[in-house]
Amino acid sequence: MLHAKKFLTLILTAIVLVTGCSRCLAQSLRDYGDKIGILIGAAVNPSKLTEDAYASTLAREFNMVEPENAMKWAAIRPDQKTFNFKPGDQLVTFAQAHRMKVRGHCLVWQKYNPAWLMNGRFTSEQLSDLLREHISTVMKHYAGQVFAWDVVNEAFDASGGFEHSIWYDSPGIGMAGKGTAYLEQAFRWARMADPKALLFYNDYDAEGLNAKSNAIYAMVKDFKRRGVPIDGVGLQAHIFNLSTKEISSLSDNITRLTALGVEVHITEMDAGLPLDRKGNLINGSDLTKQAEIYRFVAKACLQQRGCTAFQTWGFTDKYSWIPGYTKGTKGMALLFDETYAPKPVYNALREVLQQRAQGLGRGAGP
Ligand code: G3I
Repeated sequence: MLHAKKFLTLILTAIVLVTGCSRCLAQSLRDYGDKIGILIGAAVNPSKLTEDAYASTLAREFNMVEPENAMKWAAIRPDQKTFNFKPGDQLVTFAQAHRMKVRGHCLVWQKYNPAWLMNGRFTSEQLSDLLREHISTVMKHYAGQVFAWDVVNEAFDASGGFEHSIWYDSPGIGMAGKGTAYLEQAFRWARMADPKALLFYNDYDAEGLNAKSNAIYAMVKDFKRRGVPIDGVGLQAHIFNLSTKEISSLSDNITRLTALGVEVHITEMDAGLPLDRKGNLINGSDLTKQAEIYRFVAKACLQQRGCTAFQTWGFTDKYSWIPGYTKGTKGMALLFDETYAPKPVYNALREVLQQRAQGLGRGAGP
């Protein structure tokens, strides 16, 4: 028995010495991501980084992080004169210690804005100054640390029109009724604030070809033609109905966007499963369906060189926005269960990455 153990250790050591790869014996998502050249990310709550299992799973499996809430207006700007960078800075420090990239989220959104801003009765000139100052201060603070920003989040509605927003509706920043003009202004301020950061537009229910994704495509095409700075589109991929039907044209959408010369990131993937009143899974087979949905999205991304990041909205079922949002009727949406054990969906994603790493290569793109 002892001899067998010794022999196995010798073989493993030999593999490590020959390949120079100390971690290739147990490859994590990020190991494959590094090999293929794709970012594998997760949305993170910096206050949980003190939890050992949270921090170690994150560091082991991901090479990119994004603050789930910590860099949004309501979190970073508790009052007009104060910027609270502490939680965001904690995340940056963690990321740097573990060789991870940080994705910033988000600078312009109609939601999760502080009360002082929403109730301030500001004029369009004041709102314009506030937004310019905010974009500039936050992006300059994180320059060189945050490599890409969701400059504008969820500006379009399902029919391709515009969502109501403090930044768009009158008075707004003075561009009410002028379509994408307020987004254009935000992107221009963002480029000035940190010329090296990649600038993204980010939205949900715009994965496949539909009225919303058509409007996003038209905006990116127009921005590119006129030299308005934009580098990427974030497709959130919150999948609610355990089916790939509504996202069946995801590949086509990625193809047409990357053909415009922008990158695509999958930014917020999760797939909530129906739960009973006690919070238990109703159908065990849903875990397999969930795995297939993640597999579908990951494959669509990996097939095209211009799809450069695959990120999930959290990573453990212990912390996810889905149960709160669905009043407990859905959950278990992520890669790891509440005890940080990998689920079938984790294995499916790892397998897709592994297959790519084993020489299938990446497809065409910018
Ligand atoms: O910070 C307060 C805390 O002080 C208070 O004790 C607690 C009590 O409920 O609320 C805390 O704020 C909550 C915050 O998350 C932090 O936990 C807000 O109520 C809650 O509305 C907020 O929800 C977030 C939501 O965006 C709005 O910012 C979710 O966690 C977050 O997952 C969700 O993320 C969005 C993306 O940004 C954009 N795409 C959709 C995605 C899901 O909705």
